[in-house]
Amino acid sequence: MKRRNFLKNSTIGTAGLITAPILASFDSTESINSLDNVDLPIQWPIAICTWNFANATAKAWEVLSAGGNSLDAVEQGVMVEEADVNNQTVGKGGRPDRDGHVTLDACIMDKDGNCGAVIYLQNITHAVSVARRVMEETPHVMLAGKGAEQFAYEKGFKKEDLLTDKSKAEWTTWKKTSQYKPVINIENHDTIGMLAIDKNGEISGACTTSGMAYKYGGRVGDSPIIGAGLFVDNEVGGATATGVGEEVVRTVGSFLIVELMRQGKTPQEACEEGVKRIMDKNKDRRDFQIGFIAINKKGETGSYCIHPGFSYSMYTKAGQVNKPSESYIKP
Ligand code: GLY
Repeated sequence: MKRRNFLKNSTIGTAGLITAPILASFDSTESINSLDNVDLPIQWPIAICTWNFANATAKAWEVLSAGGNSLDAVEQGVMVEEADVNNQTVGKGGRPDRDGHVTLDACIMDKDGNCGAVIYLQNITHAVSVARRVMEETPHVMLAGKGAEQFAYEKGFKKEDLLTDKSKAEWTTWKKTSQYKPVINIENHDTIGMLAIDKNGEISGACTTSGMAYKYGGRVGDSPIIGAGLFVDNEVGGATATGVGEEVVRTVGSFLIVELMRQGKTPQEACEEGVKRIMDKNKDRRDFQIGFIAINKKGETGSYCIHPGFSYSMYTKAGQVNKPSESYIKP
């Protein structure tokens, strides 16, 4: 059976069976045993995200297990972190740039390859939702800065001060030395990238961040760049990144990983190759962190990072788990 037919048939085969009340007892292998070329089992629905953002995957799972689609799941999942003022690298409460401005980058991508992004967005907590409105309600893919902010107000988003007392106090302390030195797994972490597959087997992804703390004004990382911080191909899978965005952009990391899966690599193998490409370009550097996560059409997942300490949260019908990632540099 051709791959495209398999995907179509397996979607039909499972769509009617996976519903919230019977998720616990559903065995996805039963409905597709007649398909010869399929590596079993298929694991739908599923949500994964960078780092151990348990509240985010729980929210995504709430959407998916109620029969919701993967686009709503990833948007609502990452919104949890955007609203959490204790998360200082996403949304409200994010650490500012060197001039004290909190600037957000986000993107979202759906099963049809539609995508939207905002870059250098200020004064709006839910950058991912603005990105979704760009995708759905404009002829464009990306809006930046004041234009993105103005668009958000026109769509009813509320103006908010995103600089919390805590982040302001840290920035004030930082200004005394103004040293720009990202700390592995501390300053760079918390960008949330999320991938989900819904009961119909449709894949979506979202990525949102306040970027590097104390960055130059105007700096944009990988997170809102389709192909770098996030990429989804509904026939193959999806990938997303966290860490030092400059290095992810240089290799178009998420697109690379999806293309490697298209060529037959598992999500794990593809993530490992994605990190290796970055390390090959940085032979003399080891002082930065990047983590990738990936999912293929069957719901198999993988992750890989440069330094130990990265993990990803996963929610399936079996429950929620935080999965530590293997690293290029060994512990
Ligand atoms: N990965 C987030 C950033 O570099 O801005």
